[in-house]
Amino acid sequence: MDNTAPITIPGDFLFGTSTAAYQVEGSARAEGRGESIWDIFSHTPGKVRNGDTGDVACDHYRRLDTDLDLVAELGVDAYRFSVSWPRIQPDGKGPADPAGLDFYRRVVDGLRERGIEPALTLYHWDLPQALQDAGGWPARDTASRFAEYAGILASALGSDVGKWITLNEPWCSAWLGYGNGVHAPGASDLGQALAATHHLLLGHGEAVQAVRAAAPRAEVGISLNPAVIRPASQHPDDLAAAALVEGSNNRLFYDPILLGRYPMETWAHYERYLPASSVIQDGDIDAISLPIDFLGLNYYSPSTIAALSRKAEARTAGYYVPAEDPDLISADLGAMPVGRPGYERTEMGWEIEAGALTELLVNLNREYQLPPVLITENGAACADYVDPDGAVHDPDRITYLRDHLRAVLTAREAGVDVRGYFVWSLLDNFEWSEGYSKRFGLAWVDYPTGTRIPKDSFRWYQNTIRTRTLTPDA
Ligand code: FCB
Repeated sequence: MDNTAPITIPGDFLFGTSTAAYQVEGSARAEGRGESIWDIFSHTPGKVRNGDTGDVACDHYRRLDTDLDLVAELGVDAYRFSVSWPRIQPDGKGPADPAGLDFYRRVVDGLRERGIEPALTLYHWDLPQALQDAGGWPARDTASRFAEYAGILASALGSDVGKWITLNEPWCSAWLGYGNGVHAPGASDLGQALAATHHLLLGHGEAVQAVRAAAPRAEVGISLNPAVIRPASQHPDDLAAAALVEGSNNRLFYDPILLGRYPMETWAHYERYLPASSVIQDGDIDAISLPIDFLGLNYYSPSTIAALSRKAEARTAGYYVPAEDPDLISADLGAMPVGRPGYERTEMGWEIEAGALTELLVNLNREYQLPPVLITENGAACADYVDPDGAVHDPDRITYLRDHLRAVLTAREAGVDVRGYFVWSLLDNFEWSEGYSKRFGLAWVDYPTGTRIPKDSFRWYQNTIRTRTLTPDA
C-alpha cells in the first residue's frame, strides 16, 4: 500500500478501544467483590514493579460516567472492557452478586446511551482466588466454573451486548501464570501450564455454548495473541527452535480452535511433563472447536528466535543476545529470544515492525481460513510526560498506531476479513508485572488525582475515526 496517499477507511470498519477490569477499575474492596489472583499476586513483595497494585488503579469503578463520556468523545464505534469475575461471583461459584452485576449493567447501558457498542471480555486474567485455591486453571473443574459464570452474565446482559470475548490471551494466563511465574498466580511448572492451556480452551468452548444458550443472537469469539516468530538464521537448529516456539505459542491454540485438533508434535515435546491422555477427554476437542463468530487478535511486536546452543553465532550475526539465560519456557524449548538491530522499540522493549501484522494476518488466513477478525488490541507504551503547555505530545504513539492501522487495512485488501481495530488502551493503567511504570493510554492518567488528559494520539485517533481517512506520515 502507498505510504504517501490518504487511505479511505470503509464505513462499516469498526473502530474501538480496549481496557481490562483489574487494570483500570480499582475499588478492589468495593461492595462484596472477592479477591482475585491478581490481588494476591500484586500484594506479594517482589512480584510487581515498585510494589504497585490494582487497589485503586485508574479509579474507573467510581469514575465510570466521566470515563464513558471520554469514550464517547473519542468517537469510537465500540468499547471493549472486561468483567471482573470476583465482582460477579466473589468465590467463583454460586449466585451472582447483585452489586457486581449492577456495575456492568451501568457500563452496558451507559455505552448504549452514548451510541457505542459494548464488546465484553469475560476473562482478562482475574481468576477468583477461591478457584485458584481449588487448583486454578490446571484443575478441570475451573473450566466448568467459567462456563457457569459466562451463563450468568449472558443471561443478565445478553440482550444488550452484541460481542462476547470468552478469554483474553489464554497463552498468557497459562504460560506466564503457571509456566514462568511472571503473572498471577506465579507458578513455575510447565506441566501445570499445559494443563491450564487445555482447561482454558475447554472453558472457552463451554462458555461459547453457555453464552449462545442464554443469548442466541450474540456473537462470540476469543482474543488470542499469536506471535510472529522469525528464526535468527536458516541454520537447522535455529529453524527447529523457532518451530517449537511457534507450536507452543500459536498452534497449541489455533489448531484446536480452528482445525479441531491439537498439534501432536507440540504435545509430544511436553509429554514428559504431562501426558496428553491425562487431561484431554472425549468430546473436549468438539467443545473447543465449536465455530466462533469472530476471532480477536492482539498484536504488539514480532520476535526472533535463535537456538539456545547458538547464542554466540547469533551475537556474531549482530543480534542483541541477553547475557542471562532465557526463562523456563524458552529454555525448555531450547530457544533464545534475540533482538534485531536497527529496529525501534517501545518502552516495553518490544521491537516495532508494523508490516509483521500484515504478514501475520495473511499467513494465518492462508493456513486457517479465518473467520471474521477483530484486532482487539494494538498499541504502544511510550515515554509520555505532561508538557509545560499542559498537553501530552506523543508523536511516537501516533506513528505506531497509524502504521499498524495501515498494516491492518493492507491485510484487508489482500483478502483477510478484518472487520475492526481496537487501540490498547483508552487510559494509562496497571500494566501487570510492570505496574504503573508503562503508559499505553490514549489518555494520560495522573494517578495521584485521577485526572485524565487526552494525549495528542487521542486527537489523532478521534480525527481518523471522524474522517474515516488514514492520513499519510507527517
Ligand atoms: C496484552 C494484555 C493487555 C495489556 C497489553 C499491553 O498482553 O492483554 O492487558 O497489558 O498486553
